[in-house]
Amino acid sequence: MTKNSRTSTDILAFIRETFNTQEFIPLHAPVFAGEEKKYVMDCLDSTFVSSVSQYVQKVEDKVCEITGSKFAVAVTNGTVGLHLALLAAGVEREDEVITQALTFVATGNAINYTGAQPVFLDVDETTMGLSAKALQVFLENNTEQKNGACYNKKSGKRIKACVPMHTFGFPMEIEAISELCKQHNVVLVEDAAESIGSFVGDKHTGTFGELACLSFNGNKTVTAGMGGMILTQNEDLAKWLKHVSTTAKKPHAFEFYHDEIGYNYRMAGLNASLLYGQLMNLDNILKAKRKLAGLYQEYFNGSRMQFITEQSGTTANYWLNTIRFATFEERNDFLTYANENGVMCRPIWNLLNKLPMFKDAETDGLEVSSRLEATIVNIPSSFIPELV
Ligand SMILES: Cc1ncc(COP(=O)(O)O)c(C=O)c1O
Repeated sequence: MTKNSRTSTDILAFIRETFNTQEFIPLHAPVFAGEEKKYVMDCLDSTFVSSVSQYVQKVEDKVCEITGSKFAVAVTNGTVGLHLALLAAGVEREDEVITQALTFVATGNAINYTGAQPVFLDVDETTMGLSAKALQVFLENNTEQKNGACYNKKSGKRIKACVPMHTFGFPMEIEAISELCKQHNVVLVEDAAESIGSFVGDKHTGTFGELACLSFNGNKTVTAGMGGMILTQNEDLAKWLKHVSTTAKKPHAFEFYHDEIGYNYRMAGLNASLLYGQLMNLDNILKAKRKLAGLYQEYFNGSRMQFITEQSGTTANYWLNTIRFATFEERNDFLTYANENGVMCRPIWNLLNKLPMFKDAETDGLEVSSRLEATIVNIPSSFIPELV
């Protein structure tokens, strides 16, 4: 049998052999193989389970150490982190924000929470993240500068920010995107929800602009159960983000004085203690995930399915291993077979402009995004401790 003729049955057999189980295999389940329990128990014993816990500061420091970000602000999840990051970027009601249509719905939702409208541009075929070329074409042809700000010539609205996303942990063309944003006075807010442990050269994703956000949802590379982290390189913004994520309360021994509309978005200590244990084990998790990706790569090499790998000069965290089918029909046949047979596999997201709440948003045609939407599949990718 040639590799080219590999069937869905063959692929599932390989996945089962790799995960060494005949039971249900999830797409990405958390694995607590480090000292997570010790830190969670320590947090419980301290009774400081809310955001005043020392673990909140500890995870912020740890994330700064891992990413090289100057500042990090821990919040309850990645979605609200993006919301606050957009507010910190100065996005206001009636503004527009550029992003990709091929992303998880949270990216679009966070833009919507600010009252701004998304503009959906195409992604790059190899990175699956926002295409620098598509951004350049849009900014050069469809926008103009007025008083140092970028305006959409068609809608007349200000384009305040751009939120590109590092899809499945594969770094996008962030250097070129960052340069374009600077040239056109658009604030870069990286959606790095999926990309802890992913780098361009030796620079961590999420540190290319002034603001970014990571997610620590239960399905991510490392988890807080639920959690997020805003990264910023600006001290004033970091201070403001801490302030408004804790109801904008002025510190005082007993008075309740809040100096602006605030949010109850701060991460709780209990979540932070779990996350701290996970972050302490991040190197092992990344190592095992890279090995798993290597096994998949070897298996799919020369087959009809393309296994997606990191681009040269970048390091992907291989959060979700990704294959591309030749056709929509082949993709569907595989997804149906895998999910009916206890191996959880998922297609990439529906393009956001096809969802009812974003149907009127401006797009650039989204040719590449549509091709990827029809053919991309994620396969089981959990941390296998035995691979460390
Ligand atoms: C691309 C992207 N953006 C934002 C989020 C939102 O993160 P959270 O689930 O922590 O709110 C996620 C993950 O869920 C994501 O994958």
